[in-house]
Parts: sequence; C-alpha cells; structure tokens
Amino acid sequence: MNAPLSNSAFIDKDQQHMIHPLHQNAGHANARVWVKAEGSHLIDADGNRFIDGLSCLWNVSCGHGRQSLVDAATRQMQQMAFCSSYNGSSNPPAIELADRLSGLCYPQINNFYFTSGGGEATDSNFKLARSYWKAKGKPEKTRVIARTWGYHGVTFAAMCATGIAGYWPSFEPRIPGFSHIPAPDPYRYPEPADGSSPGIAMANELEKEILKQGPETVAMFIAEPVQGAGGVIVPPDDYFPRIREICDQYQVLFVADEVITGFGRTGKLFALEHYGVQPDLVQFAKSITSGYLPLGGIGISDEIASTIRGSDKPWMHAYTYSGHPTTCAVGLATLDYIENEKLVEQAASKGAYLLEKLHAELDGHPNVGDVRGKGMMCGVELVEDKASKSCYPPEWGVGAKMTSAMIAEGVFTRMRSEVVCIAPPLTTAEATLDELVAGIRAAIVTVFGE
Ligand SMILES: Cc1ncc(COP(=O)(O)O)c(C=O)c1O
Repeated sequence: MNAPLSNSAFIDKDQQHMIHPLHQNAGHANARVWVKAEGSHLIDADGNRFIDGLSCLWNVSCGHGRQSLVDAATRQMQQMAFCSSYNGSSNPPAIELADRLSGLCYPQINNFYFTSGGGEATDSNFKLARSYWKAKGKPEKTRVIARTWGYHGVTFAAMCATGIAGYWPSFEPRIPGFSHIPAPDPYRYPEPADGSSPGIAMANELEKEILKQGPETVAMFIAEPVQGAGGVIVPPDDYFPRIREICDQYQVLFVADEVITGFGRTGKLFALEHYGVQPDLVQFAKSITSGYLPLGGIGISDEIASTIRGSDKPWMHAYTYSGHPTTCAVGLATLDYIENEKLVEQAASKGAYLLEKLHAELDGHPNVGDVRGKGMMCGVELVEDKASKSCYPPEWGVGAKMTSAMIAEGVFTRMRSEVVCIAPPLTTAEATLDELVAGIRAAIVTVFGE
C-alpha cells in the first residue's frame, strides 16, 4: 500500500487539478488538507490538530464523529439509493422531515421545499416570491431588497442579493432589480442625529428604499437575522420588529435567511425568535444535517403555500436532489441529536461564556475595535485606530496575516477581511473555547503587537 501523502504533497497534486470555491493561487499554497476530525477538532494530513473555529463552514454544529448521523445515512442508503421527489413521487424521510419541521419552525411556516444547499434555497425564494405575487395579480412586484454585508450564496441570482461587493466584479453585469440597504451594524452605523433609536433608524432604511423603488415593484426583503459571512453583525433588538411592520405596510414579503442561524446557532432554534417576529418565508441549510450531507430548503407560510396548492398550473421549479431520502434521513437524525443533547440551550450558555471570554481577553487590545456575538456566533473586528474606527488598507492584508497567525496557534477559522468570524460546534467544551480565545489573542499579538 502507498504511504499516505504529506500535506504539501497533497497540495502539489491539488494545485494541478482542482479549482476551488473562491479560487486564488496565492491563498492556497499553504492550505491545510483535512484527513480526519474529532468533535471540535480538525486534523491535517501531517497529523496537526486545529480547533474548528467555524464548525467548518458554520455547518458542523453537532461536531464531528456523531455515529447516529452516520447510521441514519447508512440505513437509508441500504434501503434505497435515491428516488424522485418530483410531483407524483415522494419518500418517507422527506415527508417525515417536512412534518417535523412544521412543528419546530415559526407557527405560520408549515410547508417545506427541499434543496441541496443555501444558494438554491435563495433562488427558490426569489422564484416563489415572484410566482406568489403573480398569483395575487401583482406581477410587477419582482424587486428584491437585501443588505450590504449580507451573504445569500453565489448562484447567479443569489449573488445579486449578496451584499459583499467583492463577489460581483468578475461576473457583471448583475441581474437588474436587486438593491441593498445598509447593514444594521451597531458599531459602524452613524448615530441618528435626532436622537432616535439606532435600530429603528436602521430599519427605516428599508422603508426609504421601498419608497424609492416604488412599493408596487418590490417583491421581497431578504435578511439574515444575524449576518454571518459578512462579519457577524448583530442588529439592535428593535430592528426586526420595525422591519416586520414596514414589510406589512408595503406588502413586501419578509424572507429570513437562516442558513447559518437556523437550528440553534444563536441560542434559539430559529433566530427571529429572539425578536418575537415571524417571516413569510425562511431558508435554511448547513446545520439541518450538521454538514454531514448537503441539504437545504425553504419554509413557506400557509398563505403563500395556498397559492401553489390552490393553482391548477404546476409550480415549474425543481432540483433532482430535492427531498433526497438520505439527506432527509440525516436531517431527521440531526434534529434528534439537537433535541437529545439540548444543543439550543448549549448554544445559549456556551455562547454567553464565549462572548464574555472574548471581551475579557480582547477588549483592551488597541487594534480590537469591536467584539460582538449572539449565541455561538461571534465576531472580532480589527481596526488600525480604535478612536476613529479606521481600517488598515486592503493591501496590508489583515485577513491573510490573521489567518496564517491563527493557523500557527492551532485555530482554523475564516475572516471577513478585518473581522475574525467565530462559530465553533455547539458541543464545544468550555476548555476548548478558552483555548480558542487564547489562540485568537496570540494571533492578534503576532500580527499587531501587544
Ligand atoms: C446566510 C447564508 N445564506 C446562503 C448561503 C449559501 O449557501 P450555499 O453555500 O450552501 O449555497 C450561505 C453560505 O454560507 C449563508 O451563510
């Protein structure tokens, strides 16, 4: 048998044949090749252990190595490789998962369409919103309003809602009809001059944009309850209640993108529960299977679903892997694991512990501008100057420098340019959270000094 390849030998081979998501040669020469994972740790091809500071891509919420998820996949694959879920065909795990989700998701959301991931879910919601308004006799309602720093995936339409400008230039022109309002970022949003609540002022940006575009043209507003890939931006508590009011007033569908926040990450099963608000449509992926298999979907309000169910024409939207029996079986096993291990409660208590620890260790550092979080989802924003909140110029490369320095400390996570994103598995032990924070602090000292 051939000896296993070293990390660098793997990367040589990888660089000859693989094109990666977000491909860039410069960032890949020192890439890690992961061969194994245990709980909250990743192990590379040289046998080095790293804390999985982002649950891989915010998805492995239950941690690695959960046998019940493996068993659920094995059992279902033995039973049947695959079957269609196109109209006229269905399967027990998909039916059971939709039934179970209707009892867990927001009260008015009782209908589910499955996808293979988050971007497909975003596109499904765009198409559903358009078909809903057509059915309601308002075919001119097609526009989508999203937010800066929002991330909704990179299928062509999802990319147009994604509000991180770096995703656009290679693929312009974007599809018309998408616009962005400012992120509800308590650290960066200017204090309202009239002394009103920042959360209300941030939400009123939506009203201004709806009026600018014309309410009769706006189909939906899409928002992550806590912005994730855009730098873990936690809105003020009064933001989403006002968003709901505005959407109701102008007949704009409110779509919650819970691809990261869904299934416990923020300390509630779905994150708008923190704000006492329900969306019209919700989208999820990632933690529904804890990343063990690719599954996503949308949850649809009874009112919107009735337009599909009540029509004699087909809803012409379909993916081969919608309702895949194996991914749905793993989804069901993941929900069992979340319930049995009380992962939502764990996310709330461990998240509070993690945030307190980050504040205690990092607030005093001259280049730490902001430490924030909700549940097991935290961000540390690094600045050049704390008083003015100014950023280092992009060519200084805060993101790349911090990523390398964290790797040297045994921590693997992602940066949004100058923000360290932190979202370890919800099962992570407090001692590992301590090591994670210590590793991030040490990396900050390496890059910026004491
Ligand atoms: C909030 C949000 N929406 C959508 C997506 C896109 O999901 P996918 O990469 O599965 O297409 C992501 C991915 O990170 C996400 O964080």
